Amino acid sequence: MELINEESASELLQAQTHVWNHIFYFINSMTLKCAVQLGIPDVIQKHGKPMTLSELVSALPIHPSKAQYVHRLMRILVHSGFFSQRNLNGVDNQEAYSLTQSTRLLLKDNPWSVRAHLLFVLDPVLTKPWDCLSTWFQNDDRTAFSVAHEKAPWEYVGQDPRINNLCNEVMARDSILACKLVVNKCKGIFEGVSSLVDVGGGIGTMAKGITEAFPHMDCTVLDLPHVVSDLQGCKNLKYVAGDMFQAVPPAEAILLKWMLHNWSDEDCVKILKRCKQAIMSKGQQKAGKVIIIDMVRENLNGDEGSIETQLFFDLQMMVVVGGMERNEKEWAKLFFDAGFLNYKIHPVLGTRALIELYP
Ligand SMILES: C[S@@+](CC[C@H](N)C(=O)[O-])C[C@H]1O[C@@H](n2cnc3c(N)ncnc32)[C@H](O)[C@@H]1O
Repeated sequence: MELINEESASELLQAQTHVWNHIFYFINSMTLKCAVQLGIPDVIQKHGKPMTLSELVSALPIHPSKAQYVHRLMRILVHSGFFSQRNLNGVDNQEAYSLTQSTRLLLKDNPWSVRAHLLFVLDPVLTKPWDCLSTWFQNDDRTAFSVAHEKAPWEYVGQDPRINNLCNEVMARDSILACKLVVNKCKGIFEGVSSLVDVGGGIGTMAKGITEAFPHMDCTVLDLPHVVSDLQGCKNLKYVAGDMFQAVPPAEAILLKWMLHNWSDEDCVKILKRCKQAIMSKGQQKAGKVIIIDMVRENLNGDEGSIETQLFFDLQMMVVVGGMERNEKEWAKLFFDAGFLNYKIHPVLGTRALIELYP
């Protein structure tokens, strides 16, 4: 073995740490999942003040033999910013845990909780495809998901009620926050619109929020039968079970939230052409618009954390549904290929944006 000098030894050891950290990054996800499954954020929230380790241990649904391990789980979650820890300065000098802004987003009763999203993405049904990624690169399957499960993703969801419910909850929770922000920051985009179809609108959370903010608008949610066929509409909200590749009901505005990133360019052009027909159909007074809520990659002023978020989402889309996150140039190509002439990007949703699209 070659002798190594001080400098190359230090570089080598740094590289070793880099590789080790990448090997173990799944521990960040899995410890967070475990904390959520044990209800740790909710238990600390319910306690109402910083919670000592012994208080936490006695409140958790764990076997007594595992009490000794809780502080190690908490240590890594404090390190990654999911709990804060401070000394209570009492007689026994105890440390106590509090929630951070991020853990508050994992509480069960937070209306815009991302708890379901965490449990969905880290469910074995969605992690198994990652084990098939290199196999997928070597065969002609459409997604690593179908390598793992021998079914297309939406077909699988339609046949597994547990995953269907989890998926619908993820989307609904996300829509509560997205709708609040969009209605607040982009009010003008919806004002004066008398009818809207939310294509792939899930269980209708976004559409409900829109009809509450704009009571004169008639909203229709189009989604697959396993998502909407049991749902009841109300005065200005109705559900239509159908396939967006076949037809989209006519309306002045079409909403596509978190939809196009699920599909290949070819499929997106088909969907957008259907949407264009819907906003230009005979019944309409004037040609309407399509409103897209999705990521615009690289449109972030270089915030490192958000760039990583977009890269993660891009790969998640590739592996699970065969979709992608697009940059502005890629979006523009889709729009022009589908026959649209103008678009405007509103970067109002953090890592995502709202895009107005006109024929
Ligand atoms: C990622 S979810 C987005 C849900 C919703 N737009 C939201 O953001 O909350 C994708 C939705 O597309 C629906 N979907 C998939 N294929 C579809 C099709 N061919 N026609 C209509 N909806 C479809 C799914 O059932 C699912 O509800």
